[in-house]
Amino acid sequence: MQLFIDTANVSEIKTAWSWGILDGVTTNPTHIAKSGRDFDQVLEEIFAIVDGPISVETVSTKAEDIVREGRAIAAFHRNAVVKVPVMPEGLKAVKQLASEGIKTNVTLCFSAVQAYLAAKAGATYISPFIHRKELAGDDGVLLVQQIRDIYDRYGYETKILAASIRTGKEVLESLLAGADVATMPFDIMESLYKHTMTDIGLKMFLDDWKSVPESKLFGTLAVR
Ligand code: G3P
Repeated sequence: MQLFIDTANVSEIKTAWSWGILDGVTTNPTHIAKSGRDFDQVLEEIFAIVDGPISVETVSTKAEDIVREGRAIAAFHRNAVVKVPVMPEGLKAVKQLASEGIKTNVTLCFSAVQAYLAAKAGATYISPFIHRKELAGDDGVLLVQQIRDIYDRYGYETKILAASIRTGKEVLESLLAGADVATMPFDIMESLYKHTMTDIGLKMFLDDWKSVPESKLFGTLAVR
């Protein structure tokens, strides 16, 4: 499963990229607004940091305008993916963009039948919103499982991009449900590294190491 970061915060993207486990980025209009920065400048910086798929969202509601924005996004960089909300005009635009070889990410998916329509339109990715669905008293991970079943049964190649993830458990459940990608905020990605037993174990190993005489192999590198 690929790992994307869901943000337009350049310093978070830089840090996550430096960890060597990041495959791509997803952004949305809220992230761009939150950055308080110039849209074009933020995109320039994100595309310069990450060499992988980067989703940029369209903000029109008519197919022809979405297509126009999508072409502009695609022309911006070879790694660009055009994010389009699931709605009739959106999927009409996705079909057109797909016919031009432009990659798309159909977003705001809350049902498996929406994911089916997105695949029929030729979407590259479908983004089921796990946590927002859970907040509405619904089962977000079951949605990923249902989409996996439908895509596998009917041979759709659209990739399942588990989105709106807010807990490490939702990452684990996305892995087990067969998502192709999971996108998450920086703090959730960072939390995946953490476990109290790891901290306790590491402290114990480093404390015990202090009683071992200095070695030629490590020289002065080892912490004392
Ligand atoms: O890609 C999905 C994301 O942009 C929205 O997620 O965390 O605001 O529910 P969230």
